[in-house]
Amino acid sequence: MPDPTNHVVDDAFVRVDAAEAIERGLTLPADWYTDPEVLAREEVGIFGREWQYVGHASRLDKPGAYLTVQLGRVPVVVLRDADGELAGYVNVCPHRGHAVALDSGCRGSLQCRYHGWTFGLDGRLRGAPRSDREPGFDAGAIHLRRVQVDAWGPLVFVNPDLQAPSLADTLGGVLDVARERGFDPALHPLRATREWPIRCNWKVMLDNNTECYHCATVHPGFRSEYHVDREHYRVTAFEKSFAHVAPPRRPGDGERDEDFHLYYLWPTFMASGRGRDYFYTYTYVPVDANTTLQRNDYFFPESCSDAEVEHAVEQIACLMREDWDVFERVQIGMRSGLVPNGRLLHDEERLLRHVQRLCFDAVSA
Ligand code: FES
Ligand SMILES: [Fe+2]
Repeated sequence: MPDPTNHVVDDAFVRVDAAEAIERGLTLPADWYTDPEVLAREEVGIFGREWQYVGHASRLDKPGAYLTVQLGRVPVVVLRDADGELAGYVNVCPHRGHAVALDSGCRGSLQCRYHGWTFGLDGRLRGAPRSDREPGFDAGAIHLRRVQVDAWGPLVFVNPDLQAPSLADTLGGVLDVARERGFDPALHPLRATREWPIRCNWKVMLDNNTECYHCATVHPGFRSEYHVDREHYRVTAFEKSFAHVAPPRRPGDGERDEDFHLYYLWPTFMASGRGRDYFYTYTYVPVDANTTLQRNDYFFPESCSDAEVEHAVEQIACLMREDWDVFERVQIGMRSGLVPNGRLLHDEERLLRHVQRLCFDAVSA
């Protein structure tokens, strides 16, 4: 006789749609973490409309210095203009759509390599080969499309949406918390950058960084150095930003006697450090629904030798690897589709619920 329980539908595992999941304190449906269609909506509703970190100002240190990035569907070129101001443009030529700048570098103008149209650092068309033979060709009316560029100290951010609130307004109260904690992004120079592909959806990484519920089990080293319980681990949340602060377990031992702190800006930016010793930024760049690139910039005092920086970067990577391992296993769980909605803890994971709502609102609008 076959076991009849094998044929019973278990209501606990019937997929609940995103709106109901948020209402009931469940995770977004698993297919939100695996479906290319969802990522396509996020590219427009999130990455097309929010502030995203693009690099350190030292990479744009003189007029003409530029770098290129991809924000969702939008290729962007960010540069230092002739007046020394930061400017950003959609990196799409208004002739037939080729990029006007590739990689990074320093130039007095941007020349599209397809047909050679040339743009000034102010984004205006300076010249288009053979256009002088074209009656009615109004070069003065042609320019690159602008994006918003702003900075938190030397950290440069871009938002493709010209209507979006300012970076400072979006960072909101996190700026005050950072100031109180003595965090200054201008404190140390950029000393190293790293990039890692992780086999998971970008939201698996985001969810993880909303909580330190996992710290007790996933990060034994961190847990031994910092308080990770609800009584000590402080989370301050604002609309699109939040701050985490963990006090050291053994203040005064010299090694770890300063707070761990982390500042987050929706959707994909974090800066994290220990006291004023050093800090690093991380950014998540979705490659596809199941793959995300993690980019880190590391900031250390000039007085640190290259070998010391290298050693510290490796130490930080050890902590990150503990997370990456769980990210990739969570992604396998999501792809099964058979456990479509997880059950969250209302208090411990309240920030996760908050970012779920941001995500849902952005792609449902
Ligand atoms: S597409 Fe840029 S010059 Fe033709
Ligand atoms: Fe972690």
